[in-house]
Amino acid sequence: MRSYSLTAAAKINLHLEIIGDRPDGFHELAMVLQSVDLCDRIDLRPLSTDQIRVHCNHPEVPVDQRNLAYKAAALMAAEFPDTFAQYGGVEINIHKQIPVGAGLAGGSTNAAAVLVGLDLMWQLGLTQSELQELGARLGSDVPFCVVGGTMLATGRGEELAPLPDLNQIYVVLAKYRSLSVSTAWAYQTFRQQFGHAYVSNVQELETRRQRVHSGPMVAAIAHRNNTEIGQRLYNDLERIVLPEYPQVQRLREQFQQQGVLGTMMSGSGPTVFALTESQTQAEQVRERVQVAIADPDLELWVAPLTNTSIRIASSRP
Ligand code: C5P
Repeated sequence: MRSYSLTAAAKINLHLEIIGDRPDGFHELAMVLQSVDLCDRIDLRPLSTDQIRVHCNHPEVPVDQRNLAYKAAALMAAEFPDTFAQYGGVEINIHKQIPVGAGLAGGSTNAAAVLVGLDLMWQLGLTQSELQELGARLGSDVPFCVVGGTMLATGRGEELAPLPDLNQIYVVLAKYRSLSVSTAWAYQTFRQQFGHAYVSNVQELETRRQRVHSGPMVAAIAHRNNTEIGQRLYNDLERIVLPEYPQVQRLREQFQQQGVLGTMMSGSGPTVFALTESQTQAEQVRERVQVAIADPDLELWVAPLTNTSIRIASSRP
């Protein structure tokens, strides 16, 4: 059996709209999701015992059953018990580069890499949609992370429709190291504050979905109009997170002053990103924001957008 080394890309939300409640307790969403070439590395090595072992270079990432990569391996073992019994367990080494608790789908993309990697290691030959269906059982962002690129996501976030690839856009990401936001808290608080405006019938729900399908962000992407993409960035969860965390609001204002295409919080935050049309400009923005905020707790990254999520870096017997 072979060992695999994979890279797993982060995601940002170009559009995140909360439409209403779902019977399963989640929220009905309309999102545009985008992969960013800021990657974790996931190494998978077969074990002769029937264990799942996780190691991670980041001290805050749990390596037990709470880890989404562990859950992905456990799900594969449960789904394919004969293969698991035949081949034995797996050791998962996670080399984190994507910030944790950041709104960048770091955990989800690690889980997606484990699904893709174990499919290869165990020679299961699963289709992309089978991998996505398994991913949906682990978290709302995992199905997107299996495939990546630029996608319209509806439902819980797992109903995906591809959009044209974006080219020549760079992203500057900024996050306070000591700050992380619970996604469940952000959605719950949104429900408390704005739940009265949720769509409550099926027909209205469909109308709202269609509005996003033909909405300004999707149109801007179809026309590859980078200026328009920057101007149309949208995230409902900013209404919850920014008032609670003034430092994130200030960060967002700093980015705004830099003449970028646009700036927005990603997912449930607290990472803020800005889009630029060149790497040089992105590097300049990073420098200027770092100097302006002058806080050693602030971390910044520059990365291009990417059309893929999980890549096989190497494989060996
Ligand atoms: O699916 P995931 O585990 O990433 O979701 C984390 C939390 O975010 C959920 O427990 C839920 O509170 C909230 N959420 C939601 N609606 C979604 C996705 C996430 O309410 N569509």
